[in-house]
Amino acid sequence: MVQEQGYKEFVDKTSESASRLLNEVRGNAKIHVVSHLDADGLSAAGIICSALRRSGARFHLRVLRQLRRKRVQELVQEWGDVFVFVDLGSGQIADISEFMANSKVFIFDHHPSTGSGSPSFTHVNPHLYNIDGTNQISAAGVAYFAARAMDPSNIDLSALAIVGAVGDQQDKGEQRSLIGLNAEIVRDAKKASVVEVSKDIRLFGRETRPIHITLEYTTEPYIPGITGNGDACAKLLLNLGIPLKEGENWRTISSLTQDEKTRLVTELVRRMMSKGIDPKDAESLIGTVYTLAKEDKGTPLRDAREYSSLLNACGRMGFPGMGIAVCMGDRYENLRETQDVLSQYRRKLAEYLELIQKPNFVKETEHLQYFNGENTIDDRMIGPVTSIAVSSRLLKSDRPVVALANSEDNLTKVSIRATDQLVKKGIDLGKAIQEAIQQIEGEAEGGGHDIAAGAFIAKGSEEMFLLRLDDSIERQLDNKQH
Ligand code: C5P
Ligand code: C5P
Repeated sequence: MVQEQGYKEFVDKTSESASRLLNEVRGNAKIHVVSHLDADGLSAAGIICSALRRSGARFHLRVLRQLRRKRVQELVQEWGDVFVFVDLGSGQIADISEFMANSKVFIFDHHPSTGSGSPSFTHVNPHLYNIDGTNQISAAGVAYFAARAMDPSNIDLSALAIVGAVGDQQDKGEQRSLIGLNAEIVRDAKKASVVEVSKDIRLFGRETRPIHITLEYTTEPYIPGITGNGDACAKLLLNLGIPLKEGENWRTISSLTQDEKTRLVTELVRRMMSKGIDPKDAESLIGTVYTLAKEDKGTPLRDAREYSSLLNACGRMGFPGMGIAVCMGDRYENLRETQDVLSQYRRKLAEYLELIQKPNFVKETEHLQYFNGENTIDDRMIGPVTSIAVSSRLLKSDRPVVALANSEDNLTKVSIRATDQLVKKGIDLGKAIQEAIQQIEGEAEGGGHDIAAGAFIAKGSEEMFLLRLDDSIERQLDNKQH
């Protein structure tokens, strides 16, 4: 059972939000859904839009890279009346309260918030009930609780809530499992037979990639002699007597027999340990796999992590509508097109990851490491590039990484990432970024979680921002020590 204090109040709030939203639907209001562009944002939007469509609502969706103050003002002017914010809004509650006091506002979010906003708002956020929104429930999860309260038959949407949660890297339990309120969502998904949970080889691409490619591309965990070495991967499989193909088709990890899986894992773990890799890291080959049982085998939608990666690609490459269409059930044209988008996205990621490993590209301050992608790295991709660089240890992990890139409107996009270890030492990036932006000149808006945060700052203020951020991190580390 979920032990979290505030759990009942949170669930009651989701029920209240559902009846309020259904009231708007019955009043035939045009509902404006506004969502964030990453995997969790698109999953959350997919859940809310599906629930709205099933209830017969009139609605419209807009996907934003960020809800800036200026955008809140524009939304009221352009659209007026009923707004549903998903995966954003809580961090911008002051702006929404200022400009949308006369609108009907629903917020389904999991970002830390500075308050609940105007009493007329329906603000659903785990943090407001002392529930950890960084690891225990994502925006898609919050949207799912509301959708389930709107109609119990929306229980099938629990699968998308799992996609959102793994997209935001909330699989922080034992063997990469989902915990807290996410675990309740997993129970629903099993009950509805939309998701199967297993302990299995969890390497990325397990549903879609040929086995030797999956092995070659794995950076998490890093397998010495295998990662990055296609020939060695094929040879290893051959030596283990594991056929690469079945007829004309490449086999995937998910298609291996139990016996083949055991042989493969035993050999990979043996190799890793012989190279001095910590047994714990070696065991991380095995983890919790969330399989979307109703999706076709061999498609990226079958594995929750691959699904989230596909959505992320759609959002970040400028095709969020395609991702939402897939979330809402399109398995034809849009699904086919997303595959191209995903390949383009992967190519770009690889290019950027190579760039940041060039000598002297990443610089250091006392408590931070940073790089500026300027116009070379697309600002919509700077977040994932930084997340991957940190999680796959392409960069040092002794201090947070700050990534910068030129954005629109003469602004610089900032993404910062830490590690669990740094968070344990007292670092809270969301707080640090807010302190830093208050102390620099020009437009600046930011926020986020302890482990991942972002901002937009005025061009020209980067140096001052880094100095202030460094100070904030120093204070956080000092406070923890004393
Ligand atoms: O906006 P939002 O909360 O959805 O995004 C959180 C971001 O932080 C995601 O891009 C997620 O991948 C990233 N993250 C991370 N490392 C973690 C947890 C989250 O890079 N441990
Ligand atoms: O954009 P990026 O992926 O770096 O964002 C990291 C985290 O910070 C996300 O959870 C994002 O929603 C949050 N964020 C925020 N306010 C901003 C920018 C990012 O709360 N202005």
